[in-house]
Amino acid sequence: MEKRDKIYEGKAKIVYTTDKPGLVIQYFKDDATAFNAEKRGTIVGKGVVNNRMSATIFERLGKARIPTHFMATLSDREMLCRRLDIIKIETIVRNVVAGSLAKRTGLPEGTAIRQPIVELYLKSDPLGDPMINDDHVRMLKLAMPRELAWIKRTALRINTVLVPYLRKKQLLLVDFKLEFGRAGKTLLLGDEISPDTCRLWDATTREKLDKDRFRRDLGGVEEAYQEVYRRVVPQQ
Ligand code: TMP
Repeated sequence: MEKRDKIYEGKAKIVYTTDKPGLVIQYFKDDATAFNAEKRGTIVGKGVVNNRMSATIFERLGKARIPTHFMATLSDREMLCRRLDIIKIETIVRNVVAGSLAKRTGLPEGTAIRQPIVELYLKSDPLGDPMINDDHVRMLKLAMPRELAWIKRTALRINTVLVPYLRKKQLLLVDFKLEFGRAGKTLLLGDEISPDTCRLWDATTREKLDKDRFRRDLGGVEEAYQEVYRRVVPQQ
């Protein structure tokens, strides 16, 4: 597989075309940002952790017949993926109150949520990813109603697969962010699933093992990423 032109550079990843038109390479960087890139830093080794963990999770989801863009791991930091037109919606699933939900509701962080919550945000850096609802999705023509219904249903199916899977690895899946895209007429899960895009707490101690350590200056950031790597990614 030949890597060709850079087509997109985001805060944590670079996407390259390949010699096959339908396939791209995602390169995972160590760069970290928070609060819409107001805070910037480096988390040494993060790119490797996020690439390998995403591959492991996408393979698990594939076994559960959840379609993803993942094709193959190419190296420590590179993943071969189907090329997607990304739908400009960030879908969040929540099992436990944390982060912006704690702020919005006044409920203490750590409060259990009886039935998982799905939230939608507009994927827009200039606007700071505002929360939106189904009516805004329709107004902005972000997705067809049946596409949105599929996205929400699939987000909850992913949650149903990942909660017990991560629990076996002594991780509590507090919440996570998903991005979906179109490959022709097919909808696929895209982006990544990693400690950048999930809140993961130790199942017993509730220690934070995710990007909140960076966002909130809690220290031990690299160590937390390595701990998640050790628990989730099968070691050769
Ligand atoms: P929030 O509580 O800040 O809304 O975050 C919910 C989840 O989404 C959390 O697991 C972190 C993830 N997330 C991202 O992946 N990207 C983002 O830009 C933000 C704000 C959150």
